[in-house]
Amino acid sequence: MLHKRKLFQSIGIFFIAIVLLIASSMMSFLEQPLAAAAGVDHVTLTWESDPKTTQTITWRTEETEPAGQVRYAERKFIKSFPHNARIIDAKVETLVTNRGNMNIHSVTLMGLKPGTGYVYQINEDSEWGETRTFSTPPAKNEVFKFLVFGDSQSINYEVWRRTLQQAYQTNQDAKFFINVGDLVDVGQDYAQWDAWFNASQGVIDRIPAMPLTGNHENYTPERHFSLPVLFTAQLKVPVNGPESLRRQVYSFDYGDIHFVMLDSQIGEQVQLVPEILEIQKTWLEQDLAATDKKWKIVFLHRPPYHNKAGGANARIKGAFVPILDKYHVDVVFSGHEHDYARTYPIYNDQVADSPGKGTIYVTTGRSGSKTYNDTAASEWDAFFYNPLDEPNYLVVEMENQILHVKAYKQSGVLIDSWSIDKNMEFK
Ligand SMILES: [Fe+2]
Repeated sequence: MLHKRKLFQSIGIFFIAIVLLIASSMMSFLEQPLAAAAGVDHVTLTWESDPKTTQTITWRTEETEPAGQVRYAERKFIKSFPHNARIIDAKVETLVTNRGNMNIHSVTLMGLKPGTGYVYQINEDSEWGETRTFSTPPAKNEVFKFLVFGDSQSINYEVWRRTLQQAYQTNQDAKFFINVGDLVDVGQDYAQWDAWFNASQGVIDRIPAMPLTGNHENYTPERHFSLPVLFTAQLKVPVNGPESLRRQVYSFDYGDIHFVMLDSQIGEQVQLVPEILEIQKTWLEQDLAATDKKWKIVFLHRPPYHNKAGGANARIKGAFVPILDKYHVDVVFSGHEHDYARTYPIYNDQVADSPGKGTIYVTTGRSGSKTYNDTAASEWDAFFYNPLDEPNYLVVEMENQILHVKAYKQSGVLIDSWSIDKNMEFK
């Protein structure tokens, strides 16, 4: 009996030792510096300016690398490349992170031809790297597709990689993609961005990403709040938003759609941007009043119409929904709750007869590993699905004034399909 007790004690001590060993190795992993890999990585397309005539390209190197260059030419003249290439110098900024310093290089190619394919290469150490491609939209494009991803924050970004790559493989005609915030779990830990950008390669260097921030972009490893500086330093989206919310709030046009990205992090930024709602309300009014696009789509991380227990965002709803009503925003996409939910058309906080008379609010789901089991359909929902079994993504297609939205599981199983037809609804 004594012998058995000693045996159990020994096994117990052994397991405790193993747990301590794993914990200490994880701590050292979390604390270890993560300098940029030698050479160019995290090649990223965004639009800082008009998608029809510009393309922004951003990448990362070690801090010691001088400013790089991009050379590019029309794809149809590939046989003459690189002799026919234009070369543009990058702007370079040193980014200070908890994992070491690195250089972020960025170029916006200007004066591009609408509806044209291009090839490009990035210069590094006096050598030109991989030949990649991008395309500009036609001057008038009535048929196009884009992808929308719910929160990609993960313990393991292989989950995000599979969702993104699967969505792109089955939708290679998608022109760009949008993340609705909480791209990473700890927004001021560079290791998370390293994993996110690495998982995004093969897509983000071919079609632009136009993401917005979520609350997790504001978190430091010590669980303090910060401005989302690692997001705004690396994702060169337009700077046409309010000065104090530069690259956190912006708008752009693609085809006949006006896209608006807002910031719902009122609690996280209360000390940093105290007037965050008032500033955005003023800007949003001006922005929506100024557009002549037939379609308006707004993205906002925290949903005005929620599904999570205790998840009401009353101040956000009170600030933005009257403006969304006033300018008839067609669809609002949100995240944060990691479920997929679609409301009936809503106007003045009441269910409206048709999409022509109200706004449809969509909570996008999750593209990463994190799930919640305390969400449920609300009275305003026309459809609800909690993607506990696998991540999901949305495919949004504009086709001659009909907006088609389809929600898929990562594996390609259709979850929901709906559309708004302006030929019918708005006569
Ligand atoms: Fe969130």
